[in-house]
Amino acid sequence: MKKRIEGFSRFSKQEKIEWITATYFKDPEKGKELLSTYQNTDPLIQKRHDEFIENSLTNFYFPLGVAPNFLINGKNYTLPMTIEESSVVAAACKSAKFWGDRGGFKTRVIGTEKIGQVHFLFAGETDKIIRFFSKHKEALLRSIAALTENMERRGGGISGLELRDKTDILPNYFQLHVRFQTADAMGANFINSCLEHLAASLKDLAAKQTNFSKEEQDIEVVMSILSNYVPNCLVEAKVSCPVEDLGEHDGVSAELFAQKFIQALRIADGEPYRAVTHNKGIMNGVDALVIATGNDFRAVEAGVHAYAARSGQYRSLSKARVKEGVFEFWLTLPLALGTVGGLTKLHPMVGWSLELLEHPNASELMEITAVAGLAQNFAALRSLVTSGIQKGHMKMHLLNILNQYEATPKQKVKAVAYFKEQTVSASAVQDFIQQNPD
Ligand code: MEV
Repeated sequence: MKKRIEGFSRFSKQEKIEWITATYFKDPEKGKELLSTYQNTDPLIQKRHDEFIENSLTNFYFPLGVAPNFLINGKNYTLPMTIEESSVVAAACKSAKFWGDRGGFKTRVIGTEKIGQVHFLFAGETDKIIRFFSKHKEALLRSIAALTENMERRGGGISGLELRDKTDILPNYFQLHVRFQTADAMGANFINSCLEHLAASLKDLAAKQTNFSKEEQDIEVVMSILSNYVPNCLVEAKVSCPVEDLGEHDGVSAELFAQKFIQALRIADGEPYRAVTHNKGIMNGVDALVIATGNDFRAVEAGVHAYAARSGQYRSLSKARVKEGVFEFWLTLPLALGTVGGLTKLHPMVGWSLELLEHPNASELMEITAVAGLAQNFAALRSLVTSGIQKGHMKMHLLNILNQYEATPKQKVKAVAYFKEQTVSASAVQDFIQQNPD
């Protein structure tokens, strides 16, 4: 069967499904049936989902769980979490309970600045482009006034515009480096529109510059795009309690627990192999919130990891210490999030998640998301430095293994009771099913 096709995007949805299943599936009917099972029963909702992307065939589900009892700055939240990893929501709930009994999470937004850049080539003396830029800076800003007006009414807009000499990277390479405030929007479309207009104005103004040579008048715009590196769009989340209030963990005393915990953080700070896994644990919580609230998790991931490497070495995003008998644990994350625009009005479950969070503004969502990351990191480190990760992880994974071996509902109930006291492994579960026929 030929696997290359012309004009696929112009096929109807049904034609696409027919071609895909007939071309790639051993049993095309089964392939079609599965696609149809996951279609939304409401055709309007399905149409909306289909219109998010090109060539949509059906939906791909992830569970949406909730983690109640998060006490953040004195207010109780239940967090919506979209994630497939078995232990993440359970871990969030445990951390929420633990820190809820010890004063809760405290957060602080340090900044909300976003960045965009026009990358361009100017074939002339650096001094000339510098003088040109200072003469025309206001005109450049005025040229996009119609675009920024609405954002300014919402408290945002352009907060800085500078010319940067980047000729050490590439001959003739300069940038317009633009700082933005985007109020409650993540702002990608706003930023990119502003940048593309700025780039066009830059070209126009240069073309009219009579003291420029022909080459100098012909500025080449390489690209205009926001940056997902947002080191000034920062939020801090923190927990603390007297060391003795940490209590005993799996036979480990409060003092020893604090010591082991801080040691684990030192390792993550100095050792990139560990740092990546450590930060991945933080992102388990962050991504679950970011996805549930319809934000761009790829942008967040890219920005967070770049921030973790800002010293030149990839390091832990969280820190801990004991100061005057008080255990403190905190993290700082760059999070460019929005609660308006994007998917917020389009995806029904995003609206639902935002309502569950009582309609936070973008700064509040940054705070809640950072807390999810800190809670997750605490839960992972607590297990790692005491019982080990597999005990809790495999308990949560038990249902997945039972489903994989097609256990019946009765066998599942029995297995859950049995494995309360036993070590979970794939082979132990398989043996259990064989020894306990339905
Ligand atoms: C697993 O998804 C996350 C952990 O590996 C995080 C960590 O090691 O800190 C448990």
